[in-house]
Amino acid sequence: MTATVLPTPADLSITPRDRRFGREAATPRLWHGGRVEATAIYNALSTTFPVGEAFFVESVRAFRDGAPPKLAEEIRGFTTQEAIHSREHDAFNKRAAQAGYDLSKLEAQVEWRLSVTRAKPPIVSLAATMALEHFTAILAHQLLANPRHLAGAELETADLWRWHAVEEIEHKGVAYDTWLFATHDWPRLRRWKVKAKVMFLVTRNFVVDRTAGALELMRQDGVTGARAWALLLWYLWVRPAMFRKIAGAWFKFFLPRFHPWNEDDRHLLAAYERIAGGMETKRKVRRAA
Ligand SMILES: [Fe+2]
Ligand SMILES: [Fe+2]
Repeated sequence: MTATVLPTPADLSITPRDRRFGREAATPRLWHGGRVEATAIYNALSTTFPVGEAFFVESVRAFRDGAPPKLAEEIRGFTTQEAIHSREHDAFNKRAAQAGYDLSKLEAQVEWRLSVTRAKPPIVSLAATMALEHFTAILAHQLLANPRHLAGAELETADLWRWHAVEEIEHKGVAYDTWLFATHDWPRLRRWKVKAKVMFLVTRNFVVDRTAGALELMRQDGVTGARAWALLLWYLWVRPAMFRKIAGAWFKFFLPRFHPWNEDDRHLLAAYERIAGGMETKRKVRRAA
């Protein structure tokens, strides 16, 4: 490896938190505050995780041979975290199906997108993973930084999303560092061009597919046409405006010295641990009672 400086914090430890959510009671159909559009967009996102995160793992693992020990260690933490996320979102998706949603169309779309990428050389899958992991990390940051996104949501499900967001932030540098390692002998301009092109493509696909997926789930709740579009666009772009609020962080990806850890947002992790620690204690007390 060349003398590339990797600004992933030296003291960062990627710690899988093997937690389970929602096993004790059914999840309400409109778990997000009774709101059709809010429930739909999170459910559409969750539909992508079981196979999507398995794809991330296989894409990064394809380049782990010869990785420096610190990166190899981080890859191990990353793959364990993503495997547990897949398990928990698979369970969550089953609960959404039990609540009456048919996710098959959304799942087929994800499988199709992944098959297109898998048909290309492995470095394309790694580049797509690196771009999507940045995307996931900035969504996670926004989700944790702004309580409005999960306001009114059923508590255990909100906890699932926060837990996932924490680990996405914690391992946000892994796919990027693997990409730097795998392309260390590429000219900088070529590296930037591929990275920028892939980010544009995955962003377009992400926005188009998740919007279509959410509209399909809203249709299953009887909300269609202009009303469905208006509710969803308002939710994503006006208030609480997840998509609009991540725009600045998204643009930073194209800066010449970009690295996910240029923004050290571990204070969000510490804040979560304080709350989650309290919730675990309450749960244990409830179980013991
Ligand atoms: Fe994940
Ligand atoms: Fe991830």
